[in-house]
Amino acid sequence: MPTLRSATANSPPAATPSPAAASTPRSVKRRLTPGRAGETPGASRHTSPHRSPHAGAGTVCSPKLLSASPKSSRKRLYGDLVAAEKPKWNPRDPAQIRAVKEALHVATVPSCELVCRDHEQRRVFEFCKGCVEQEKAGSLYICGCPGTGKTLSVNKVKESLMSWADEMGMETPDSLAINCTNLSNTSEIFSKILGQFQNRKKGSNKLSPLQQLQNMFSNKESAPRRMMLVIVDEMDYLITRDRAVLHDLFMLTTFPYSRCILIGIANAIDLADRFLPKLESLNCKPLVVTFRAYSKDQISDIIKHRLKVLEYDVFEPLALEFCARKVAAATGDMRKALGVCRSAVEVLEARLQDSDQELGIVTFDHMDIALSKAFKSAVVDSILCLPQHQQMVLCALANTFQHCKKKATTLGELNKSYIGICRSTQVPAVGMLEFSNMCMVLSDQGFMKLGQSKEDKLRRVTLQIDISDIGFAFKGNRFFQKCLEQPRC
Ligand SMILES: Nc1ncnc2c1ncn2[C@@H]1O[C@H](COP(=O)(O)OP(=O)(O)OP(=O)(O)O)[C@@H](O)[C@H]1O
Ligand SMILES: [Mg+2]
Repeated sequence: MPTLRSATANSPPAATPSPAAASTPRSVKRRLTPGRAGETPGASRHTSPHRSPHAGAGTVCSPKLLSASPKSSRKRLYGDLVAAEKPKWNPRDPAQIRAVKEALHVATVPSCELVCRDHEQRRVFEFCKGCVEQEKAGSLYICGCPGTGKTLSVNKVKESLMSWADEMGMETPDSLAINCTNLSNTSEIFSKILGQFQNRKKGSNKLSPLQQLQNMFSNKESAPRRMMLVIVDEMDYLITRDRAVLHDLFMLTTFPYSRCILIGIANAIDLADRFLPKLESLNCKPLVVTFRAYSKDQISDIIKHRLKVLEYDVFEPLALEFCARKVAAATGDMRKALGVCRSAVEVLEARLQDSDQELGIVTFDHMDIALSKAFKSAVVDSILCLPQHQQMVLCALANTFQHCKKKATTLGELNKSYIGICRSTQVPAVGMLEFSNMCMVLSDQGFMKLGQSKEDKLRRVTLQIDISDIGFAFKGNRFFQKCLEQPRC
């Protein structure tokens, strides 16, 4: 990961809370030799992503080192090992439990460099760095399954980019992060981008925000001087709803005086096949960086790395390995792995409440219970991974078959039930053609069965999964609870 520690080479990484917080003082900056200006920050002292941030601290000796030592030194090392032994974890101490859960919480951003995403972050960083150096607009598309560290990595790259530009004495780019799920409509993305640029220049109100941006980037006089890093997260929302918006967005980087460094992040792996030919013909094919699902070893490394902030061992190594193996085999989703580990800690907590055992550690058995809870049903997991409208179709199906006690319905009837749900939840419904396509996708995935008929609306629909899995998947989710309260018989 291109973290900026070239000017602070001797300070321990653990003492660097975040690149932003650890910005290098100007006096240190001036000492940089001119030859470093073109280097990737930290390249000269790049460390492997698997290297511990505490490596070299020497508190614990590896077993390999012990067995390789002659007897006398082995004794000495063993003595050191005993002396440096970690304090025992006390799961009855609320402060310690809190610290463990925080370390495993998805919202906790690791303070030092990220492990296991070094290569991907480097590619994103090099792309942004090239744009800033050449003052040239450009676009990049990041895709990968949920929980593979896309958002986290891009945020870290952003911090590094700002620190690097600052350290090189360059003008740091402005930045704007947009999460598309928060947009009230897809074209709102252009007003957000325009709003950020308009801090300096006011556009004509008669034109749409997109047109104003296009004008702004077409003329030298109106073009903004400063580069802007625009991070568009959850871009799937733009892809499914309106492809024109997606094309217009990427096209913004092709205008002669554009200043946009556009990074789009989405789950859709097949965007490359579906949209890149079109973007290529529009001369705005983005660079694509794919985040692959985490492997067992990566999941294990990440968890261990996150737990390094604690002074004590919380998990039996076998328990962690078990979790990593299971999650990697299922989805490779880091969020899931962290959730399972937290849940295993809760299993231990619950066990301790029923016993007078003093201390404890999360064992294989605790993890086994947490894993079986998390992977109770692969169907539930698949439901939770579906796009929102397909989930709403499943609710419509559940309502039809549960409340109305029907065994089969038609696509037309199901559409009515879906529209009823959309109305009550104030979500704009998709048209019949798109609805029918969604049902075909759900049928291909084995959630429902679609019969044949000349007329689409008359196609017979039956449910292919256990109805209780739908209820279970949406348990505790207020929005979907409302969807499931819509009987339409
Ligand atoms: N390399 C990593 N090191 C430490 N934690 C990680 C790493 N990768 C992922 N995580 C953890 O997993 C969580 C999910 O990561 P992130 O939000 O970046 O995934 P994502 O790929 O953007 O997922 P989605 O597609 O659902 O938005 C993060 O909040 C973080 O806690
Ligand atoms: Mg994300």
